[in-house]
Amino acid sequence: MDPASGHDAVADVAILDGRIAAIGPSLPTSPAQRVINAQGCFVTPGLIDPHVHLREPGHEHKETIATGTAAAARGGFTTVCCMPNTSPALDTPELVRYIYDRAGHTGRCRVFPVAAATKGRHGDEPAEISLLNAAGAVAFSDDGDCIPTPGMMQRVLSLVARTGKAFMQHCQEPTLTRGSAMHAGEISVRLGLTGWPRLAEELIIERDVMINRAIGCRYHVQHLSSAGSVEIVRRARAAKQPVTAEASPHHLLLTHEACEGYNTLGKVNPPVREQTDIDAIRAGVADGTITVLATDHAPHSADEKALPFEEAPMGMVGLETALPLYREALVDSGAISWMRLIELMTVEPARLCGLDAMGLGRLEVGGPADVTVIDPGAEWTIEPASLVGRSKNTPFGGRRVRGAAVATIVRGEVANQR
Ligand code: DOR
Repeated sequence: MDPASGHDAVADVAILDGRIAAIGPSLPTSPAQRVINAQGCFVTPGLIDPHVHLREPGHEHKETIATGTAAAARGGFTTVCCMPNTSPALDTPELVRYIYDRAGHTGRCRVFPVAAATKGRHGDEPAEISLLNAAGAVAFSDDGDCIPTPGMMQRVLSLVARTGKAFMQHCQEPTLTRGSAMHAGEISVRLGLTGWPRLAEELIIERDVMINRAIGCRYHVQHLSSAGSVEIVRRARAAKQPVTAEASPHHLLLTHEACEGYNTLGKVNPPVREQTDIDAIRAGVADGTITVLATDHAPHSADEKALPFEEAPMGMVGLETALPLYREALVDSGAISWMRLIELMTVEPARLCGLDAMGLGRLEVGGPADVTVIDPGAEWTIEPASLVGRSKNTPFGGRRVRGAAVATIVRGEVANQR
């Protein structure tokens, strides 16, 4: 299945020297060093996750490039883009090069850094955007935090526009979310927790779209969580603005009930909300408003997640569980086809991050041999202890799911096989 070309047929795929050598029915297997039987499986371009936290440098007790990319390969991902909220933040060309270097030595899949848009991600001085771009940053974001002031947003969008790369916004108006721990609704009131209202996300998207109208930067909404946000993005795209948006597994499946009992595994930023939001996000995927899927893989240690709810960090791991969860939320619900799901996980994120220029996100003869083999019928139970990533903080433990990556091939080498 290659959504980029529309190719969808029973075929063999031959790989030689890290490239796709041939695609076609009944290719000879005789000189092959290794044959993977993909009977009954989908053979797709390697999956790409444009939003993960690998925690290196600085938070290696949560995850490293080695453990995070092992989790990625296990989940079927051949490429991940890592966020800059590390310690120090990825705000210098040296740090961008450091990520490439570490990934080259320890990574199980391809890693591309998203650089900080402001120095230290503090939101008060732009980072050296053109130097970061030259060093290989594939996009810019202060993810984990929003760029709060319109003045700084205008400067950053102008600077990023010159690079041709995308700016990715973590949409959270800070004065509306101070001290917030979960979705502002009936449950936050009952639990006595400060709520994170939809308005804080919607206001930022609306503001940024207005600021960007005169600039025309490629503007991307990260982990969109509310029905109102879907509508704002829909309108902006209808007005031909260069706006894209991503949805995450938890926002497609979970409501604020995940935080009942002060369950910190359900604590995530932006928060999981209500069924009406889930329905709107799925509808946004179905009608092409949301064109990218991203896990926001956010590892945290068991000790950190054992803190009282208000003190526990926000975030959940996603790389190893994303594929069957997207399938449940989007394919089984009838929102989209398998082909479209693969498109949202391959060529669309490749375009967002400019990786399509390297041939990533598609399956074509002569292109890089990044390939995922998916068994759509594989049934399994999500067991946190069995995850290979360093942190196990998933709210989906015990869930029965369908679909698994049975082989993940990066540059022609098998990075994971189950
Ligand atoms: O829940 C989240 N966790 N959302 C973010 O934006 C950041 C992430 C993290 O770094 O833990």
